[in-house]
Amino acid sequence: MNVKDLSFPDEVKNILSTEAASFNPPQLAALKAGLLDKENMVVASPTASGKTLIAELAFLNHYLKNGKTVYLVPLKALASEKYEEFKQKYEKIGMKVAISTGDLDSGDGWLANYDLIIASNEKMDSILRHRTPWVKDISLIISDEVHLLDDASRGPTLEMVLTRLREEVNAQVLALSATISNANEIAQWLDAKLVKSDYRPVVLKKGVFLDNTLHFDGKETPINNEHEMEFSICKDTIDKKKQALIFVSTRRSAEAEADKIAKKLATPSAELEKIAMQIETALATPTKQCKRLANNVRKGVAFHHAGLVAKQRKLVEDNFRAGNIKFITATTSLAFGLNLPAWRVVVRDTKRYSGYGMDYIPNIEIQQMFGRAGRPKYDDSGEAILLAKTDSDKEEMEYRYINGDMEKIYSKLSVEPVLRMHVLALVASGFVQSKSQLRSFFEKTFYVHQYGDVDDVMQKIERVVKLLKDFKFITSDEKSSIEEFTPAFDMNADPEYKPTPLGKRVAELYIDPVSANHIIRNIGKVSGIDPLLTINQCTEMWPLLRIRAAEAEQLEDAMDDYGVQPPDAWDLDYDEFLKQFKTALMFMDWTNESSENQLLEKFNVTPGELYTKKNNAEWMLYSARELALLVGKKEFATQLNKLRLRIHYGVREDLIKLVMLKGIGRARSRVLFKAGIKRKADIKKTPPKALEKMLGKKTAQNILRQVS
Ligand SMILES: Nc1ncnc2c1ncn2[C@@H]1O[C@H](COP(=O)(O)OP(=O)(O)OP(=O)(O)O)[C@@H](O)[C@H]1O
Ligand SMILES: [Mg+2]
Repeated sequence: MNVKDLSFPDEVKNILSTEAASFNPPQLAALKAGLLDKENMVVASPTASGKTLIAELAFLNHYLKNGKTVYLVPLKALASEKYEEFKQKYEKIGMKVAISTGDLDSGDGWLANYDLIIASNEKMDSILRHRTPWVKDISLIISDEVHLLDDASRGPTLEMVLTRLREEVNAQVLALSATISNANEIAQWLDAKLVKSDYRPVVLKKGVFLDNTLHFDGKETPINNEHEMEFSICKDTIDKKKQALIFVSTRRSAEAEADKIAKKLATPSAELEKIAMQIETALATPTKQCKRLANNVRKGVAFHHAGLVAKQRKLVEDNFRAGNIKFITATTSLAFGLNLPAWRVVVRDTKRYSGYGMDYIPNIEIQQMFGRAGRPKYDDSGEAILLAKTDSDKEEMEYRYINGDMEKIYSKLSVEPVLRMHVLALVASGFVQSKSQLRSFFEKTFYVHQYGDVDDVMQKIERVVKLLKDFKFITSDEKSSIEEFTPAFDMNADPEYKPTPLGKRVAELYIDPVSANHIIRNIGKVSGIDPLLTINQCTEMWPLLRIRAAEAEQLEDAMDDYGVQPPDAWDLDYDEFLKQFKTALMFMDWTNESSENQLLEKFNVTPGELYTKKNNAEWMLYSARELALLVGKKEFATQLNKLRLRIHYGVREDLIKLVMLKGIGRARSRVLFKAGIKRKADIKKTPPKALEKMLGKKTAQNILRQVS
């Protein structure tokens, strides 16, 4: 079978044949297994083996028959890569392509008219919670990187989304997986055919670097340029006119590693200078981190992690693709699915902190990082390298990651914090209305498929239901007196569950029921640092700021100032409380107009981290306001809304009105305020010349236009 043999219109085949002259083995196998006859399918094959094209064939087939596809991905970076690619390729044939990764309190009704919707797994979860009408039109569900079912933080949402979508719509399912050893289990779960392949179009050599020597397949290649390990490899890469990605386990080491490489690398160019300037000016006032990144970029190096602001992240990704930036040091933020021109991938850290200590990273994940090298679009060979310090290091690495087997993946659904979110969502959207329905829903999850034990989950679920009832998020007709000791004659009772209006809203707001309850209990505390402390006591605000040694005393002084009573120092919660308070204090400073640099210095919080934390805090305050309205505490809603705006803009209350004008930030708003210009009416009264003097001509005219 060839592209020309497809029963697609010529204009579609022309687009496909510019990318693939012929189909490769996994693609042929998928076609043969009935991809275009709408068979459910799991494709498990190596990195760069063309799984995306299998997805494209499937969604084109649906599009041409008036179907609708959702394409689910785990990372925002991947969502935008796919979106840009598909839009560019298929809009010209009339396909409407959309991306949806943002705001979680919306059903995104506007997506009704789109043929292909690329969504993050979380966003799809939220769309289902809102019972969005277009969901029933979905005819194809694509789940990319489905092996992440195994991931403790991302897996359960993916599992719930897939279970629920399959219950709600009668659609074809196509799941794309890395090579794993139990792909057959996923296929059985999804009633799908399994297409497995070990084809990789570009040979990827995997080896270990020790004592300035690369060890590939028993062969030794010395790299004698007398530099430190990482730089030695980089130098060799640049001598070969290639690019590389270096994976490390933390944001901090990504930055330090980039510094180290940049220090010895000098490839300045006018182009790099331009990009560096764009990076440096991404924020109104550049912070140390902006400058650090810009200085690295000047030399052709960048770090990449979730702590960069979106604009900087995009600049780094785009310019690595364009070949301007030669090296990126990254955390797992770039580990999955992306097509990048890295001829070499270096994995520096093979262990990471797991909550209990340092653990080896699973082989599946290491292979994903390796797989960013040698992509057919950019290279016809590739190298993946681990760094060893000793002989025994090298042996261990070869055993695990060069010759090692791929692990099995396991469902991570059965933990209570996960279950309480999802049980509430199921009841709140009316999708599940009784205990027996809840049971039959969970019988269809991957967890129960894998472990075969629905009773074990149901025991946990009963505890969760009790909690949700205590919180008044759901009601049931179960008699409370017999709840704990169900007598034998009641064993077969099938209590009904109904959501309360409050429960419905909590599910839509996409916050943990325990957080919602905590907020409701503290809703009246709206002055001083209290509301900030309340939200930082919710799991959504994790990770909190860390406490440095000897900092406790200082923080306790601050608690005194704010009249906050800490738990006893021997209390198990004490350390956690310090972190919550410190994070609240950081927001306090931010809303009192401390600069980003001051926050970096005082709290060691990078601009990217600040940005993420700000978004989360705004979300929690928005939720708090919504909850206040629902529990009849309207009087606090305005306060909470003001605080949300203050966090958004980083200003004191008196500046909110001014700073909401477009084109002036908090610094210039303060300049106006000090000159007695405090609201829109004052601007109107001020002579334009005076305004121009304070703000510059362009800005002055801009805001005058807004108030006129
Ligand atoms: N039949 C083909 N002939 C030539 N090139 C192809 C063919 N199929 C796919 N490609 C190219 O190979 C690359 C495969 O990348 P793709 O993103 O599909 O990998 P993947 O299998 O999804 O891997 P990963 O697990 O890393 O996500 C793309 O650049 C694509 O253009
Ligand atoms: Mg892929």
